[in-house]
Amino acid sequence: MSTPGRLRGKIVVVTGAARGQGAAEAEALSREGARVVATDVKPEGDCRRLDVTSEAEWAQLATELRESYGQIHGLVNNAGITWRARLGDVDPEDFARVHAVNVTGPLLGIQHLTPLMPPGGSIVNVGSSAALTGHYPVAYTASKWALRGLSKSAATDLGPRGIRVNMIHPGFIETEMTASAAPAFREANLRETPLGRTGTVDEVAPLVVFLLSDDASFITGAEIPVDGGFTAHGGAKSISDALREEAS
Ligand code: NAI
Repeated sequence: MSTPGRLRGKIVVVTGAARGQGAAEAEALSREGARVVATDVKPEGDCRRLDVTSEAEWAQLATELRESYGQIHGLVNNAGITWRARLGDVDPEDFARVHAVNVTGPLLGIQHLTPLMPPGGSIVNVGSSAALTGHYPVAYTASKWALRGLSKSAATDLGPRGIRVNMIHPGFIETEMTASAAPAFREANLRETPLGRTGTVDEVAPLVVFLLSDDASFITGAEIPVDGGFTAHGGAKSISDALREEAS
């Protein structure tokens, strides 16, 4: 249930906010009263430039936030890239490039912005169903598993300061990232998703709002899938479906 203005007075930084899930999260956070600092490597509209792989750009953002607001309350490490090479084909340079955005980016964000966070601060790292499975695009999958390690470690480290760190794991969400996926990828995903459909950015954003709000004040180190059940069954869905078909 949504309480209007749950984030009133909070300053929240969102990365990768020019489009897709990040844009929807920025909008939803604003609707709840947060002052959102939307950032992206390709800024559009109200976004400010921030390449999450650049330590200098994070340092500059932290300086500006300190001067403008003195403190900040939330960080959504949403920016991410995929790379669909399989195990036998992936180039180590691409592997490192994906890691730089998906893992080093959130690390730099945490390092540069948590000094500005008072107790009650909240960080949300955007993982993926690939972080819970052996998804074939190995650079992406390995980076999102690494982000889980970073999140757990950060939750442990920052807990004594009253700062919470949680992760969400979106399944197949309709954005430009998934628009470029092969039809077979989409179809196979749908077959393995108990709810039998893809998700929308507006079904992810409310979870981010909740985790940033004080309603989640005792939740840290948690990982919440928002995936229509995709990661819930470990392959048991195809058995269930096959037996249902046989019985009918
Ligand atoms: P998207 O590709 O539509 O948007 C990603 C945004 O991140 C873009 O605006 C892009 O410019 C920005 N970005 C890329 N590199 C950046 C960098 N170095 N610094 C700053 N910004 C950068 O993707 P989408 O779907 O909105 O993805 C958001 C997050 O959700 C990503 O972390 C992605 O891995 C994750 N995710 C997406 C899923 C999906 O089905 N769409 C499923 C699971 C996870």
